[in-house]
Amino acid sequence: MHLSNLLFLLQNRFLKTIFLSLMPIALFGQTDFEVPIDNRVDDLISKMTLEEKLGQMNQYNGFWNVTGPTPKEGNAKEKYDHLAKGWVGSMLNVRGAKEVRAVQEVAVNESRLGIPLIIGFDLIHGYKTISPIPLAETASWDLEAMRMSASLGAKEAAAAGINWTFAPMVDVTRDARWGRVMEGAGEDPYLGSRVAEARVHGFQGLDLSDPNTVAACAKHFAAYGFAESGRDYNTVDIGENTLHNIVLPPFKAAADAGVKTFMNSFNDLNGIPATADRNLQRNILKGDWNFDGFIVSDWGSLKEMIDHGYARDKKHAGELGLNAGSDMDMESYIYLNEIKSLLKEGKVSMEQVDDAVRRILKVKFELGLFDDPYRYCDEEREKRVTGSKEIQEGALDMAKKSIVLLKNENKLLPLKKEGQKIALIGPLANDKNSPLGNWRIAAENNSAVSVLEGLASYTGNTICHAQGVKLVNAIPAFHEEVKINTTDKSGFKAAKKAAKKADVVIMVLGEYGFQSGEGRSRTRLDLPGFQQELLEEIYKINKNIVLVLMNGRPLVLNWADQNIPAILESWHLGTQSGNAIAQVLYGDYNPSGKLPMSFPRSVGQMPLYYNYKSTGRPGADGGDAGSVFWSHYGDEKNSPLYPFGFGLSYTEFEYSEIKMSSNSMTIGSQIEASVVLKNTGKVKGKEVVQMYIHDQFASVTRPVRELKGFELVELGPGESKKVSFTIDPELLEFYSANRKWESEPGAFTVYIGTNSATKRKANFSLN
Ligand code: NOJ
Repeated sequence: MHLSNLLFLLQNRFLKTIFLSLMPIALFGQTDFEVPIDNRVDDLISKMTLEEKLGQMNQYNGFWNVTGPTPKEGNAKEKYDHLAKGWVGSMLNVRGAKEVRAVQEVAVNESRLGIPLIIGFDLIHGYKTISPIPLAETASWDLEAMRMSASLGAKEAAAAGINWTFAPMVDVTRDARWGRVMEGAGEDPYLGSRVAEARVHGFQGLDLSDPNTVAACAKHFAAYGFAESGRDYNTVDIGENTLHNIVLPPFKAAADAGVKTFMNSFNDLNGIPATADRNLQRNILKGDWNFDGFIVSDWGSLKEMIDHGYARDKKHAGELGLNAGSDMDMESYIYLNEIKSLLKEGKVSMEQVDDAVRRILKVKFELGLFDDPYRYCDEEREKRVTGSKEIQEGALDMAKKSIVLLKNENKLLPLKKEGQKIALIGPLANDKNSPLGNWRIAAENNSAVSVLEGLASYTGNTICHAQGVKLVNAIPAFHEEVKINTTDKSGFKAAKKAAKKADVVIMVLGEYGFQSGEGRSRTRLDLPGFQQELLEEIYKINKNIVLVLMNGRPLVLNWADQNIPAILESWHLGTQSGNAIAQVLYGDYNPSGKLPMSFPRSVGQMPLYYNYKSTGRPGADGGDAGSVFWSHYGDEKNSPLYPFGFGLSYTEFEYSEIKMSSNSMTIGSQIEASVVLKNTGKVKGKEVVQMYIHDQFASVTRPVRELKGFELVELGPGESKKVSFTIDPELLEFYSANRKWESEPGAFTVYIGTNSATKRKANFSLN
């Protein structure tokens, strides 16, 4: 149903609803602020029919804007009737103060109990004003900036009617073939945990009833990032060791940070679809972790258990899902239709239904929806807040901080501000759509500042722009496959001509905004289409090239690394992309980003991650020279091209040796490892000082090193600072052979340095 039709339908019912709207509030005292939320929830549950309860567990997509395969069941008319009957607890993809008010009015005014909807949306990296993709934001290692970015996104979305975001995605990701690496915090569970906390705090703020905040959702529970072969939605088979030590920590961190909801995942994990994983949802999350929010299924994931070959039919899927602790059904139409008979047959229990409904209602109360269901539906506020100066400035700040300088030979960067002829080449150089990245459903197409536009505010140089390789012609829809042109090289000529006359060539290459993200797995990690060929052709003419990359995942950049003097990783930076890139290119912002994922030398290295296990035949490059019998490849190194945590600056930093306050500690004590960091260069800059620890032997094998602390330090030229990390037994805990988190006495190595490959180390023991 088109929006205008829906609004028309709603108008006709207007008078009736005014009368009805007063009734539930009068009956159930829903505006009583004094009564504790738990009591208000219980009171309401005691008045609900079974259908109304199942309604709360039912989530429908809106009447337009689908972010998943369109279901065959359920048309708009039916959805509308269900809303009016109180059979819908939540909607997703309804957005805009007016539109949300429209559906909220049906739920509140027409249904018997007037229970407001919770309105979900994929606010992943900004709402209308788009911030950098989460992988890029993570590259800032700036937790406060990420908190702020989430908070500004929440403010803009909340003004447009949204009160629940399906973010943060906290899946640890080790395989760049998987398109959704763009949506998470990369390969490390420690960094991922800190980022998860920052984002949850940003979205939810200090008080969820503040109308500028939204409920957050930790997803996808669990192990979705370990999809076999990096192919989206694929099966996952990992052991307990990886599950507990690598996959679960960011989820636990999100739960501890007070995240209100979880979303389960599409994948099966060791043979059980996550949606039906009782151990994950009931034992670990709701049991061990005491999570008291609710779990929403992923889009249709209840129904997809039939395709997994796990559920016989829809009814069976409902039984499996509810028994496993999935509380809300996103777009499967199963809970609403099947639970009634499952109850009759004793396959699920009323306690389980009540528990799910209680959890959902509690979040609604906490959001303040019962006190004012329209608190997110003020069109005036929406106008004021959308794209406001504050939000744009926040997006620019975050974008600058997300950029990673990968190479800068002969200090080609920053660029001189005057008298230069610049050739700006590449399909993405003036593209205003790609920088918006993948999750930008509410943003206007082509609303990002392109690199060409960003550079225009520096007027001292002349710029000659040539596309070289064409982009896809039309703007693709969210669900479409996209490619960067592979059939047309007609633009090469003009690009070469521009390069010939230039002092410096800036080439903007990478992935189209929709080439990474959900459903966008790739088997190749090189520059798509003719871009590599274009790069090499231009290099033959002018070697003074700055390569600006736009991409949502690590790419294979061997040739560029060997030949191109300067490389800047700018990801998909959002609305302010071009301005941020221009400021970095011209040195008005000194880049300080560090990679949150290892960049491979070859696709064949996937999955690739710095915190690998040693093996019995250790695989550090060099290995057992003279023999083949060690863990390695015959045709490529084991190490990445650029390691996790890597990133350069326009200044240089010098590290002292590590100083230990003591080389041993006992349970109950702590020690300190410190370095002195000095800015030995000529400009102010920021450095992410990283601490890694290696547990030399344990009851289960441990990674060669693991990130255990980091600090973002800003220093002026010549300045130095002591950076200290506290190490205590808690920091050394891991999921041990005893199947619990504990630290074990033994020998450890601590590394402190500029990236995960640092060799600066010291030893200590836990006695
Ligand atoms: C499917 C995705 O896996 C999930 O992350 C997203 O939140 C839902 N679709 C809703 O759009």
